[in-house]
Amino acid sequence: MPLSGKLSLGLSEKLGEEVASGLINAFNEMEVAHRTEFQELRHDIARLENRVVEFRAELKQDITALRFELKQDMAAMRGELLQKIAGVQSELIKWTFVFWLGTIGIVVYMVSMWVAGVTQGLMLRAFDAQGFLVYGNFTETVLRVLPLYYIRAFGGLLYLIGMLMLVVNVWVTVRGATPVPDEEASAPALQRNAPPDRSWQRRLEAHPLQFALWALIAVSIGGLVELVPLLAAKSNVPVIASVKPYTPLELEGRDLYVREGCYLCHSQMIRPFRAETERYGDYSKAGEFVYDHPFQFGSRRIGPDLQRIGGKYPNIWHYRHMEDPRSTSPGSIMPPFAWLLADRLNTSDTVAKLRAMRTLGVPYTPEEVDNAVKDLQAQAQAIATDLATSGVQSAETREIVALIAYLQRMGTDIKKAPLALAEPRP
Ligand code: HEC
Repeated sequence: MPLSGKLSLGLSEKLGEEVASGLINAFNEMEVAHRTEFQELRHDIARLENRVVEFRAELKQDITALRFELKQDMAAMRGELLQKIAGVQSELIKWTFVFWLGTIGIVVYMVSMWVAGVTQGLMLRAFDAQGFLVYGNFTETVLRVLPLYYIRAFGGLLYLIGMLMLVVNVWVTVRGATPVPDEEASAPALQRNAPPDRSWQRRLEAHPLQFALWALIAVSIGGLVELVPLLAAKSNVPVIASVKPYTPLELEGRDLYVREGCYLCHSQMIRPFRAETERYGDYSKAGEFVYDHPFQFGSRRIGPDLQRIGGKYPNIWHYRHMEDPRSTSPGSIMPPFAWLLADRLNTSDTVAKLRAMRTLGVPYTPEEVDNAVKDLQAQAQAIATDLATSGVQSAETREIVALIAYLQRMGTDIKKAPLALAEPRP
């Protein structure tokens, strides 16, 4: 039973009909109003509940979408990273490959050179029980180490390829690079951890410029101590009386020797060891080189030493040897210099060359300088006449004659007279 009904019974008795019904009415109105208000509130709650459910669903959708995007992003990043790693790896493989190519190349090059050097060295100084050279023929020793020359060339080729790849790699890398803008960066000032060191060494090191200057002075003193006596002494090379300056033709031949790079394969210095003097002849004396400007000692012996080649072979031998080394020395690896047989000897500078030698202290007389070309032609004619007996015609104007004259002169002066020391040069 509603509240207004219960109230109406008691109230109507005590308050009188009219007041009671008024109150009841008011109560009833309030009740209705409350009820509708309550109803509305409920509605609102239901709506809110709906909103929450909707919101939840939306949120769920959003999260799923976000998750998906994130996954995609991560996959893309991973792919990029993997690509980068693969790129770096392939770069690395390329670099490592280049490194190994160069390393193996240089090792092959060196080892074959060492083995060849030791082998040939031992052969060149091998004597038999009778005291004769076991390998008297130089070419024999060359042929023994020839395979090692090929291996060395192969090693050098590997190294060269490695170097070229490296250069290409650097070029491609630099070309493909994108410039990185400068970034501002700052760092705190370095702090002095060590306690100040006042020792003389630290003080020197703290002043690199002064230190360099002191070092220069110290080193110069060492150098001067060695140099000054050499410069101050009139001559530190004992002059040998029978050693004379080259004739103009020989001087031209010597220039050809230099031009053709003969010194790259031939030394002109016999060392005072039995294996050398047995093979080449008397060892070289300093006095024999006084007119050589510059000297042709050489640094390698792909071929034999030439210091005492003068007079060893007839002129025609040298002629044929230069034309084709294998014709006189079977198996020779010396390249042919056949153009020397055909090219004209240029004598336009001969006088100037003698003059230059005079400036350097070679005692040519003024007459010798003036008559240089005439002398040259006379000597060339003599050699050409000799060659003519072997069927070589009119060689006197060719370069080969000058080279032969030089080769035939080499190391012969000392044989002309017993070793006699002349007055020191002024
Ligand atoms: C690539 C190295 C090489 C060059 C460059 C070279 N030679 Fe030779 N030469 C040899 C060899 C190896 C021999 C030993 C085999 C032979 O007799 O041909 C030799 C031998 C000689 C001989 C004979 C030596 C002897 O005692 O039997 C003479 C002379 C000679 N060379 C002169 C020259 C002259 C001159 C030139 C420059 C125009 C020259 N060579 C350039 C490698 C070279």
